[in-house]
Amino acid sequence: MAQMASKIKLEDGQKLELKGWVHRLRNISGKYFVVLRNANGLLQVVTSANNVDGKLSIEASIDVKGVIKKDERAPGGFELQAEKILVIGESSEKWPFHRYKSVEMEMDYRHLWLRSSKLQSVFKVRNTLVNGATEFFNNKEFFKVDPPIFVSSACEGGSTLFEVPYFGDKAYLSQSAQLYLEAFMPTLEKVWALTPSFRAEKSRTRRHLTEYWHLEPEVAFVDYKGNMDLQEDLLKHIIKKVLDERSDVLDDFGDRSELETWAKDKWIRITYDEAINEVKNKFPKLKWGDDLGTEEERYLVEKLNGFVFVTHYPREMKAFYMKVDESNPKVVLNNDLMAPHVGETIGGSEREWKLDLLLENMKMHKLNQKDYEWYLDLRRYGSVPHSGFGLGIERLLVSMLKLDHIRDALPFPRFINRVYP
Ligand code: 4AD
Ligand code: MG
Repeated sequence: MAQMASKIKLEDGQKLELKGWVHRLRNISGKYFVVLRNANGLLQVVTSANNVDGKLSIEASIDVKGVIKKDERAPGGFELQAEKILVIGESSEKWPFHRYKSVEMEMDYRHLWLRSSKLQSVFKVRNTLVNGATEFFNNKEFFKVDPPIFVSSACEGGSTLFEVPYFGDKAYLSQSAQLYLEAFMPTLEKVWALTPSFRAEKSRTRRHLTEYWHLEPEVAFVDYKGNMDLQEDLLKHIIKKVLDERSDVLDDFGDRSELETWAKDKWIRITYDEAINEVKNKFPKLKWGDDLGTEEERYLVEKLNGFVFVTHYPREMKAFYMKVDESNPKVVLNNDLMAPHVGETIGGSEREWKLDLLLENMKMHKLNQKDYEWYLDLRRYGSVPHSGFGLGIERLLVSMLKLDHIRDALPFPRFINRVYP
């Protein structure tokens, strides 16, 4: 659990006033042992009962004045010996996590469970992750742009599309900003967006949400190989930044040596055909043309021990905008990036930039040309080769922090049976 001492400098004899919340509380023969929580983490506070002004209980907000004492027995090696604890806001006796705790409770009381040490640490890493991405794209002179969320056509197929009534008509919630990012390219060339994406996922898995945060760059004059270089550079930059700046909480998630290896080693690139071969012994029923599922993907990253790019998927399986490989028209110039502990974390590709070939793809995918006229215009007026990808922020967090379930990678997860609170 993240101790304040790992974040801020504490010294024996230092006078300190802290505001925060009562994370834990014990009363041992007239003496209070309070674990105070604030945004910097946890610190043990000790005082006698007559120094307390107000009713002290779990999650009461408090203002504490005292002196820091170095003490090897205290968590983090320091405690605050308080001369005064003032209760700012009392807390009801009915703190829901008093009695017992279950996953269902963590979800029903999510608004309160955000105060848990675990989620506090996850959100700190999440924040650093997004800062790392922002820094990376700024260094490379990308422009951050803001595509719409209400959209009129599917990017990733109809089966996971959320339909919403729209003033007597209908609209959809965006599954991906990609098509709109492509429209920015002739004016800004290198763009990226971070937006919520929506998928009407009907199955419950440990890696699917109905609303997730999607980081998507789109770059002119880059092929599918350059696209993979960009992915690897971005993720390595993020991993290094988290290692450098979040050592205060990383220990909460176990050994960090894996992150160090990922930041250093060159990542593996194999084709879909090779991936099928790699997993064939474990999944003998898998044949060419089948999608890799969660189990196959996780087996693959375990076997190859790290991040794995899988390229050249069968055309039928993938989206209409992906460029067909001219030397083998059965496959596309795409990649999925498989991450340890979770599987697919990025989907990316070179885009079909020629109008006639794009129309052919759309026909094969049985799409209605009328719905995509604006997108086709992008091919009619000065089209260029280009590539891009989509990274699921929560999936990357699951991988980096070895989380058991995607629900803990974001504050208010949404699933088929959950939109409250
Ligand atoms: O592979 P996907 O569907 O690709 C696209 O949407 C492209 N248009 C992106 C692009 O090229 N700009 O989704 C990209 C990533 C996945 O690899 C995964 O990390 C995440 O988005 N993702 C989900 N994350 C959580 N819950 C879900 N239901 C997700 N669906 C996709
Ligand atoms: Mg995908």
